Amino acid sequence: MPSVGVFDSGVGGLSVLAALRAELPHERFVYFADTAFAPYGERGDAYVIERSRKVTGQLIAEHGIKALVVACNTATTAAIHLLRAEHPALPIVGLEPALKPAVATSRTGHISVMATRGTLASAKYAALRDSFAGSAHVRSVPCDGLVKAIEGFDAEAIATLCARYMAEAGPFGDATGEVDTVVLGCTHYPLVKSELQRHAPPTLRFIDTGAPVAQQTRRVLAAAGRLSDGEGGLILQSSGDPSVLQAAAARWLQTSPQGTTATSA
Ligand code: DGL
Repeated sequence: MPSVGVFDSGVGGLSVLAALRAELPHERFVYFADTAFAPYGERGDAYVIERSRKVTGQLIAEHGIKALVVACNTATTAAIHLLRAEHPALPIVGLEPALKPAVATSRTGHISVMATRGTLASAKYAALRDSFAGSAHVRSVPCDGLVKAIEGFDAEAIATLCARYMAEAGPFGDATGEVDTVVLGCTHYPLVKSELQRHAPPTLRFIDTGAPVAQQTRRVLAAAGRLSDGEGGLILQSSGDPSVLQAAAARWLQTSPQGTTATSA
């Protein structure tokens, strides 16, 4: 059975891959990090569309993937409609900031969405807000530079930027007018959740989309009759330095990276 393709601008999609591997242990995954062209989030739609098309084309040509998970909010908002139109036979799962569950569960009705500038400026995000924000107060916090810091394992920059953006996302708490829920609308951010938590009370809820996306992928594979019952596996590919991706996978994948290989693409 062919693999499920997963891509992100870099290592962020590993947070989604961890959920995918936990939910679908019998699937083989090929994860593509477009590291040489990251970050996507501050570069505009035309760039993200071009890269998303190239990476998808390569995953199809090299691996004959049976489904694709766009493990990147920025690429989903900019390009998923085009990818679906161009590859109608390929099931494609995307993700978007988890505003709907945040609104449903927030008690104070004050929510902050941390994401890339590209995601927050998109028409898709505006439509998401229109559909689900209702009477909730939703603050958008573009986290410029944070993806780059995570890609570079730059602990000092990560700490500084997490402090800055959490200050913008607050004040936090359970009292009237305080933010009790933060949506992590970029797949890189769950990787630094413990750093973000340092600037929040323990009651603050962070919501990301890894688990729901993994469940949706299961449903999509089942509907297409493409669920595997074989042995799972993982191939890692990067358009940048494969050893950087391998190190990131060793650090951030909660599931065992056995069977992993890294190759430049
Ligand atoms: N991880 C990505 C996202 O979910 C994109 C980050 C970037 O390249 O700026 O939006």
